[in-house]
Formats: sequence, C-alpha cells, structure tokens
Amino acid sequence: MTTHVVRVDIDHAPYDILIGNNLLSLGEKIASHLPQPRAAIVTNTTVAPLYLAKLKATLASQGVACQEIILPDGEKYKTWDSLNLIMDALLGERAERKTTLIALGGGVIGDMTGFAAAIYQRGVPFIQVPTTLLAQVDSSVGGKTAINHPLGKNMIGAFYQPRLVLADLDTLKTLPDREFSAGMAEVIKYGLIDDPEFLVWLEQNIDALMLRDESLLAQAIERCCQNKARIVAADEKETGQRALLNLGHTFGHAIEAGLGYGAWLHGEAVAAGMVLAAYASKELGHLNDQDLSRVIQLLTKAKLPVVAPQLGPDCYKTLMAQDKKVDAGRIKFILLRQLGQAYIGELPESAIDAALLAGCAVAK
Ligand code: NAD
Ligand code: GLY
Repeated sequence: MTTHVVRVDIDHAPYDILIGNNLLSLGEKIASHLPQPRAAIVTNTTVAPLYLAKLKATLASQGVACQEIILPDGEKYKTWDSLNLIMDALLGERAERKTTLIALGGGVIGDMTGFAAAIYQRGVPFIQVPTTLLAQVDSSVGGKTAINHPLGKNMIGAFYQPRLVLADLDTLKTLPDREFSAGMAEVIKYGLIDDPEFLVWLEQNIDALMLRDESLLAQAIERCCQNKARIVAADEKETGQRALLNLGHTFGHAIEAGLGYGAWLHGEAVAAGMVLAAYASKELGHLNDQDLSRVIQLLTKAKLPVVAPQLGPDCYKTLMAQDKKVDAGRIKFILLRQLGQAYIGELPESAIDAALLAGCAVAK
C-alpha cells in the first residue's frame, strides 16, 4: 500500500505524519531527522518484545547508536516516577542535547516521552512511532505531552511537537481488540466534531473497519490526521478551537479518575463521555432522539461502552471541576449543535444532572 503523508503545518515546527506499511524499516527517513547519530527509544514491556528489535536494527543500519528505556506498561504508570526513570536513564548514559528521543508505543508512552523530550536539558528532538490506533489518529499528533496526577489526568505537561510521526499500519496487527475499539472512539470523535461526511462514511464502513480492513483503516487514519493537523495548525496551544478535540473528554476524564486510572481505557471513557455530551446537547435542544441513537449505535458497533459508570453526580462534578478547560471556576464543555458540529459552551447544572441521570448505569 502506498504511504500517505499528512503535513502538520505549525509555523515554528512543521512536520510530516507518515501512514503506511513497514515504516519501522524506514532507516534513512528516520535518520534524516536526527541531528546526531544517537537516539534513545522509550517503550514499554509489552511493545518492546514486539517492535524494539526491528526499530533498533533499522537505526543501527544507518549507524545510529540506540539506548533503550523500557517502562512498565499502563496508564497507571503515566506518573512522575516513570518520568524520573526516563531522566535517570538519559542522565546515566549522558544523553546529549542533540540525542533524539523516540517514543515507540501507544499514547501513554508517546505522552510521557514527549514530556521527557520537552524537559530533558530544556528540550531535545523527539519522534513519535505510535503503535496503537488511538495514538496513530490522535495522541502522536499535535504536541500535547503529559503525565497524570492523582487529582487530575494529564495535568502536568507541555506542548512540544515531534519532528516526525511514523504510523506503521503493520503494528496494529498485534493490537488487542479492546485497544482497537478504544482507538475507534477517537476516530468517531472526529466525525462528530466537524466532519459530518466522515461520520456517514464511518457509519457505512464500521463493520469492515472493525474487521481491520487495511485499506479502509489507512483512509480513516489519514482523514483523522488531516482533521487533527488542520485544527492544531490553527490553534496549537488550545486558546480556542483545539478544545473541540476534547469532545467527551470532560466526562471521560472524570470516569478515568473516578474509577482509578487503567480501570477503563481512555478511549472507552471518551466513548461513554461522548454519549453523556450528546445527552447534554439533547437537553439543550440541539439533538433529537434519532441523533442520539446514531451516536449510540455507531459506538456500540465499535464495541465501546455507551453507558457511563455510576460515580454519583457529586463525584462527577468534583472531578470535572479539575478539568483543564475550567475558566474562572466555570467548566467548559464540548457540546454538539448537531452531529458533525461541535462547539464550546457551558451547561446549566440541571443539564449536567439530566445527562448523568440518562447516561449513567443505574445505581445498585
Ligand atoms: P496505551 O499507550 O496504554 O496503549 C494501550 C495498550 O496497548 C498498552 O498495554 C500498550 O502496551 C499496548 N500496545 C501498544 N501498541 C501495541 C501493539 N502494536 N500491539 C500490542 N499491544 C500494543 O493507550 P493508548 O490508547 O494508546 O493511549 C492512551 C493515552 O493517550 C492516554 O494516556 C491519553 O491521555 C493519551 N492521549 C493523549 C492525547 C494527546 O493529544 N497527547 C490524545 C489522546 C489520548
Ligand atoms: N487530544 C486532544 C488534543 O490533542 O488537543
């Protein structure tokens, strides 16, 4: 299959996203982005046995010396402790300012490695090699990097752009079904935000996509990356429209923190969060029952949860009050004016209550 290239046109730091097969073998391409023949690959205990040797061999063929930093796997390790492990390893090996950090893994590894690259020696070059669907369509693009804090998700981090993103479709072949579905939540998100045509395309192709039809997957990933690149290029630091990419995330982050990081996958929490946002939008009179069932049906076909956990309204509100979009104490939500047209707005308490009542599991 041909390699698709999507340009992320950020003024001070434009870069390419490559989407295709066998990209882990693109030695010359990767090496051309390294200011010195030295790199540190950050990955985890699950991804390392699958893809680390191949990437290392590719780089070695270009004369690049590679340090490997293998972290424990999981959202619950997206912490200061893991970040410190990266710092310890870099300092221990005397990594230099021109040493490139390469994130090989899903969004957790990508976010942590990006943050490490932003702060090690005040900033070193960084390349993303995303190996989950979620990371290929979302987290590896746009330069948001972070770790979690017990009081809030992704609360400590930096905007720091990679020099290159390599989304190798072959890596998705080993992705567990549950993780694949989690990635589909972010894919569906793009349709709901501002791409109604893509939403219809997803509705038409969801069954084949769930069977991982490679040609359709490549099209979907490219479309998501094009959408994200456009939004990020216009608003890199999220002073406005980039916040639309957080559809479902205000509720979703509350689900993740409320249940304990790792209990629900990020994409699962975003799926249930998008349903809550749709209920709230219906409460405001923007969506009708048919819109709501389209959202629920598509997410259900993607094998995603559409009923949020019963944390209790007070718990949801406390956790949502920690959201990064809170402005002067007021929570900003991403809501739907219609399917394929999101906007940033506020919700009266009654609409939050109604959405939680309609969208959460019945309390036992
Ligand atoms: P993840 O990084 O935890 O990866 C999911 C699981 O799949 C892990 O167990 C991982 O080891 C495993 N895995 C990765 N690649 C694999 C492969 N090819 N084959 C088999 N197993 C593989 O989770 P994720 O869904 O990729 O990312 C979620 C994270 O991304 C969250 O922390 C979220 O906050 C973050 N995120 C960031 C942004 C952003 O803009 N920076 C956007 C969305 C999400
Ligand atoms: N995933 C949200 C963003 O990148 O802005």
